[in-house]
Amino acid sequence: MTGEKEIFTSANRERWKGYISTVTRISKDTVRKQYRPVFLWMKEREKHFLEILSIYTHFPKLLGVGNDYIDMNYCGEKVNNIKKYKDQKDFIIMPLMVNKIIHRDINKNNLLILNGKLMLIDFSWAISEYEKDTPIPAPRGVLGGIGYRPESLQGIWDDNKAFDKIIV
Ligand SMILES: Nc1ncnc2c1ncn2[C@@H]1O[C@H](COP(=O)(O)OP(=O)(O)OP(=O)(O)O)[C@@H](O)[C@H]1O
Ligand SMILES: [Mg+2]
Repeated sequence: MTGEKEIFTSANRERWKGYISTVTRISKDTVRKQYRPVFLWMKEREKHFLEILSIYTHFPKLLGVGNDYIDMNYCGEKVNNIKKYKDQKDFIIMPLMVNKIIHRDINKNNLLILNGKLMLIDFSWAISEYEKDTPIPAPRGVLGGIGYRPESLQGIWDDNKAFDKIIV
């Protein structure tokens, strides 16, 4: 997504301001994602998906919910050598498949490393298999503008292929 961004890195780990949300590290272990009013509908959806995935180890744990934010555990940082972690693919892709969740935004910004563990964050645009799209359709920039849309599957997003395109 475009928008003014303060990158959330080790040098500036407090705050990230994007198109959809402002993400603030409110404590060593806790991150708060606060939605812009126009994207508030995403809050319940992210909560829903994080709850389903809470028994697995490679996704954020939901810690709390407020009027316009969710709190989750800190999931680490973006790394340059992401390919080094490709062996952890099944820990991410299998839970998504088993629970019929399609993330639709697997990209280098949404994969973080926490103590050597590959973590998938940001369920902003995630859908269940039985849904066609999010209440506000995902913009083209999410679904393919960056070149990780599997061209072979028209209309059906494939997280597995998206993952392979960036990591494997
Ligand atoms: N649980 C977390 N642990 C560590 N960093 C996080 C966490 N959640 C979000 N971040 C940081 O904040 C950034 C934005 O979070 P997220 O991708 O969920 O928001 P977004 O508003 O949907 O962003 P975009 O639409 O641009 O992808 C992430 O790229 C990451 O740097
Ligand atoms: Mg993101």
